[in-house]
Amino acid sequence: MVINKALLSAVALATIMIIIMARPSVQVTVNITNQLTQKILIVHCRSKDDDLGAHAVAVGESIHWSFRDNFFGGTHFWCKLAVEDKRISFAAYEAYFEIFTKWVVCDDGVYGQPDGHPSFLEAGWRRP
Ligand SMILES: *[C@@H]1O[C@H](CO)[C@@H](O)[C@H](O)[C@H]1NC(C)=O
Repeated sequence: MVINKALLSAVALATIMIIIMARPSVQVTVNITNQLTQKILIVHCRSKDDDLGAHAVAVGESIHWSFRDNFFGGTHFWCKLAVEDKRISFAAYEAYFEIFTKWVVCDDGVYGQPDGHPSFLEAGWRRP
């Protein structure tokens, strides 16, 4: 009886492990493009585990990075944008189901660009 219980627990644990390991995951690429008028953009993005550091992005250039996210959308990336004395903080990637990860930084703010949908203003510039 004791052995059966232990065996049952082991089988249950193994089943849970298999379910966890078989979670589908997707390759996500986040891409942020500088479309400011003649201004260098500073981009600093981080997740819970990764700090990508601050990068200067010239006009017309992009910064992009890729990672895998699992079905439960465990990964979040927050980005700080800076140009002169203006700042924007926004969530560049929040969840597995959020398929748009293309951002374009313009003079009035940062725009999301979902594939096949109109772009939208995600956040405007602020002076701290
Ligand atoms: C990032 O987006 C820009 C502007 O849409 C595009 O030109 C560039 O090819 C993209 N880069 C990647 C790696 O997707």
